[in-house]
Amino acid sequence: MTNTDQLRKAIFDRGNIPVHVAIVMDGNGRWAKKRFLPRIAGHREGINSVRKVTRICGEIGIKHLTLYTFSKENWNRPRKEVSAIMQLLLSTIRAEVANLHKNNVRLSVIGQINDLTADARQGMLEGVELTRNNTGLNLNLALSYGSRQEITAALRTLIDKVLAGELEPDAIDEKMISKHLYTGQMPDPDLLIRTGGDFRISNFLLWQMAYTEVFVTPVFWPDFRERELLEAIGEYQKRERRFGMVSEQIK
Ligand code: IPE
Ligand code: IPE
Ligand code: MG
Repeated sequence: MTNTDQLRKAIFDRGNIPVHVAIVMDGNGRWAKKRFLPRIAGHREGINSVRKVTRICGEIGIKHLTLYTFSKENWNRPRKEVSAIMQLLLSTIRAEVANLHKNNVRLSVIGQINDLTADARQGMLEGVELTRNNTGLNLNLALSYGSRQEITAALRTLIDKVLAGELEPDAIDEKMISKHLYTGQMPDPDLLIRTGGDFRISNFLLWQMAYTEVFVTPVFWPDFRERELLEAIGEYQKRERRFGMVSEQIK
């Protein structure tokens, strides 16, 4: 057995596969810089990691994979980088969607996708539509996503309903707020992986990650492949999730 076969076996033996994994795919620029390449070369290589990680998540039975692909704040990067990323997004979605569909992956998008170029938005939405009835992995891309913006939008929707007399303020509870987020149909993430070594959330799924297990690795995203993913899941499986209780209560 190869090393990754052993890691896979150990994961299956432990049994508690995370239902929802979220990833901050960071470090593309530094990966490129280390090789004296332009930053976009790192983004391009990062796509190979996306392909690989998506395939493995499907194979090991993870239900939802949310990838932080482009943040609301990333629009503030140099214009050249932003437009290169947008082009890459469009060409990638065009090239990959048929394969995702063939592999029974259901594509979804969270974020303010009206910010995207018309081409990119349309490409994404066509992919979502094509794959909507698939029953395998839900690949959820966070695009022009910011968690504070998401919570603000949910609040506005709820306030509109109250003002229209459709909703009693007392009826607003945690569940209702969760339902009004972009992730309304998904369970909260069990595991957050951040590549690139920074110990921060960067405006990602703030509400949803109240009890998510966090795994940070110094590995840059373009180098994050099968072994690294399986190790992160193995580490997650060894954690004790107490949700505010004491150890004896959850045994
Ligand atoms: C993550 O890699 C990709 C995006 C934010 C789009 P970065 O581009 O942030 O890479 P570093 O963090 O500068 O190395
Ligand atoms: C987070 O990475 C966003 C994505 C991976 C899409 P950033 O590189 O934007 O995060 P900061 O700026 O280091 O916090
Ligand atoms: Mg970064």
